[in-house]
Amino acid sequence: MHKGQMPRRKVMWEVVTVVVTIYAAIEIPLGMVFPVIRTATVLIVELLLTGFFAADLVYRYREACAQGPEARARYLKSWIWIDGLATIPFGTVIATPFRALRLLRLLRLVKLLRVSSAANRLKNVQIVNPSVVRMAVLMFWILLTAHFVAIGWIALDAVDPELVGSARYLQAIYWTSTTLTTIGYGDLTPVTAPQTIYTIFIQILGAGLYGFVIGNIASLIANIDVAKTQFREKLERINTFLRYRAIPADLQTRVNDYYEYLWNSRRGHEEATILDELPLSLRTQIAFHINSEIIEKVPIFQGAGEQLIRDVILNLQATVFLPDDYIVRKGETGREMYFISRGSVRVVSGDEQTVYATLTDGQFFGEIALLLATERTATIRANDYCDIYRLDQDTFNRIIERYPSFAEHIREHAEQRRQEMGL
Ligand code: CMP
Repeated sequence: MHKGQMPRRKVMWEVVTVVVTIYAAIEIPLGMVFPVIRTATVLIVELLLTGFFAADLVYRYREACAQGPEARARYLKSWIWIDGLATIPFGTVIATPFRALRLLRLLRLVKLLRVSSAANRLKNVQIVNPSVVRMAVLMFWILLTAHFVAIGWIALDAVDPELVGSARYLQAIYWTSTTLTTIGYGDLTPVTAPQTIYTIFIQILGAGLYGFVIGNIASLIANIDVAKTQFREKLERINTFLRYRAIPADLQTRVNDYYEYLWNSRRGHEEATILDELPLSLRTQIAFHINSEIIEKVPIFQGAGEQLIRDVILNLQATVFLPDDYIVRKGETGREMYFISRGSVRVVSGDEQTVYATLTDGQFFGEIALLLATERTATIRANDYCDIYRLDQDTFNRIIERYPSFAEHIREHAEQRRQEMGL
């Protein structure tokens, strides 16, 4: 189990708490403005909520205790007030002649803070895109705000007195949505002074909320795929540079092709750069994971021992070549050898008139110059997009020294290839 991942039982409890809290947040204000519902259900709901929230308080206290004295102290300092306040059955004072006292019931809604904290945790589990969670949470708060605003409108008796039940609520929500969205048709308007004051407040809130929501949604959409956005920006920067330095058009196209391939094959990441940022132990583990694919593909590694594979894996560097790229040129000094992970290359003579061979997935090249300390014996060009792993000369030398049977294998290949070229 990953760190930060919760066991099923905890997740279930969290979900139930969130659902019950949302239910309470909708029901409690409704019960305050709809007396019919209130008398019928309020007491039962009140008791059930008290029971559940009390159970939640005990559960969370025990969880905190289980985590140690620090967590317990933290709980006793902060959340206990919220969980405790939500437990008090303020609804039972509903019969009081003082209307204002009934507002105490709303205090239980502090429990909504639990919804926020649950949503925050959901962002960390990485199953759901954090931006999607943020968007959902934003929508939730907007809808809940609209609900509260509508209840306030009903409480101020601003709704058409002829309407009853859900029709009252519908009209209140309609007024809320036209006001909050700043559309303001003006077909439902305040009459009394308190209604007017309330409307002014909601209008100001609406204007602020509107800007806030638009700004948030714009940033959320941009962030849903941060990788893509950043990649596009990077490409934009590179292209600006290429244009500024008047790089020939076909070369510019090749650069863009490279990045397109990089995006399609590995979401734009240049592995080496990412790995460089990580501490050594993590880098090793990740390199092992990424490069094990190539080890499986290359037949000469099949019988090799684990230590050899470990040595090789950590020193492989992934690179990409585009169609027709020169990977090796005859006559050059060789400083590395190559393993093909995906793609195909052609081995040709210096004048490119003779094709000696075509190499594909799992095959290697560039070993002759390293083994014999000579110059490259042939030219190698990519036939298509190639994912290739490079192994530098130092590592190569070390491996050849340390693992004689592996060295023998490579020597045989090299010898055979030299013969084919008539060397
Ligand atoms: P090197 O000489 O370092 O650089 C060119 C490479 O082409 C060479 O190593 C071999 O790996 C490869 N090569 C040369 N001839 C052949 C061949 N006949 N078949 C396959 N690969 C070859």
